[in-house]
Amino acid sequence: MKQFNVGIVGATGMVGQRFAVLLENHPWFKVTALAASPRSAGKTYAEAVGSRWAMGSPMPESMKNLIVLDATADIKKIAPLVDFVFCAVDMKKNEIRDLEERYAKEEIPVVSNNSAHRNTPDVPMLFPEINPEHTEIIKHQRERLGTKRGFISVKSNCSLQSYVPALHPLMEDFGVEKSLVCTYQAISGAGKTFETMPEIVDNIIPFIGGEEEKSEQEPLKIWGKVENGVIVNAQKPSFTAQCYRVPVADGHMAAVWVSFNKKPSKEEILKVWREYKGVPQELNLPSAPKQFLNYFEEDNRPQTKLERDLEKGMAVSLGRLREDSQYDYKFVCVSHNTIRGAAGGAVLTAELLAAKGFFD
Ligand SMILES: NC(=O)c1ccc[n+]([C@@H]2O[C@H](COP(=O)([O-])OP(=O)(O)OC[C@H]3O[C@@H](n4cnc5c(N)ncnc54)[C@H](OP(=O)(O)O)[C@@H]3O)[C@@H](O)[C@H]2O)c1
Repeated sequence: MKQFNVGIVGATGMVGQRFAVLLENHPWFKVTALAASPRSAGKTYAEAVGSRWAMGSPMPESMKNLIVLDATADIKKIAPLVDFVFCAVDMKKNEIRDLEERYAKEEIPVVSNNSAHRNTPDVPMLFPEINPEHTEIIKHQRERLGTKRGFISVKSNCSLQSYVPALHPLMEDFGVEKSLVCTYQAISGAGKTFETMPEIVDNIIPFIGGEEEKSEQEPLKIWGKVENGVIVNAQKPSFTAQCYRVPVADGHMAAVWVSFNKKPSKEEILKVWREYKGVPQELNLPSAPKQFLNYFEEDNRPQTKLERDLEKGMAVSLGRLREDSQYDYKFVCVSHNTIRGAAGGAVLTAELLAAKGFFD
């Protein structure tokens, strides 16, 4: 595979730092530009991040002395340095929408972790194991933007990265009718650590702004169809969600209830989960987990702390599948929110786009 030069926009933030770590020894992608706010611009990456470094491993040596560029003012300087950028910034939605379109119009493809363009109908919300065919929409988006290679692709919210994969392979044969989910979400999902969010210690906060709507609605775009140059959202399944912030550093858990059109047996569900492979597994993409869905038989698994790093944080862990008195089944699932749910998922998306020639 060809090598690609990559920029990280929002490199100093929680997700940006995770990109830096994941890309350090990537076989296809080399980090050649780092960008953030004017507060960080002009400093080395090490100076700009300072004591905010929150990763378990040290800052990559190859990036420490790169000078951070201004994500907005320096777009024209960034353009010749990169083949595409990852973007994860904390700015107002309309500012992010404009910023990402400006990169695309400078012919820089954007693989975004921000929510700003998730509802734009010709922007794909790619989940490589689930809807790789949505890359079809990119040619329509390029026509709208008037670009040859620039486009925007987004990732879905981190809350749904365990239950959407669990339900997806059951849809075709059994028809998922409705689902209720309660999520137990880590503080890194808010860009926080225990030092910067002391109010979460010994506590649960039963509200995360906008999260329940995203958890209910975004799956319908992921399962939508490309029709006449836009993505038409799926009508089913219907979701209802409650999202809680819990005192956990990394890893989102979800308790899930589900009803089907045609109720499968427990053995049928377990067989589907065991055997499911997506395009990333078939193409053997560098960040693809070998086993995407992993079922644990023990009653007290999956646990957030024990399972979040499975297959370098890219696998989904499942357990406690049993029949329910009100829905057909209930189960528990876990995924790593800043790896599979954010930077790792975006790197896998970029690998899919690279393999399909979208960065050529
Ligand atoms: N954390 C997660 O698990 C997660 C998951 C999925 C999606 N996301 C999304 O990813 C984005 C970043 O989240 P985060 O947790 O990494 O936030 P964060 O830790 O607060 O980092 C924010 C980043 O945005 C930069 N920034 C702020 N204002 C800017 C401006 N005016 N121009 C350019 N850059 C600016 C910051 O640069 P300075 O350091 O220079 O201020 C920093 O690099 C958000 O949209 C979030 O919703 C996060």
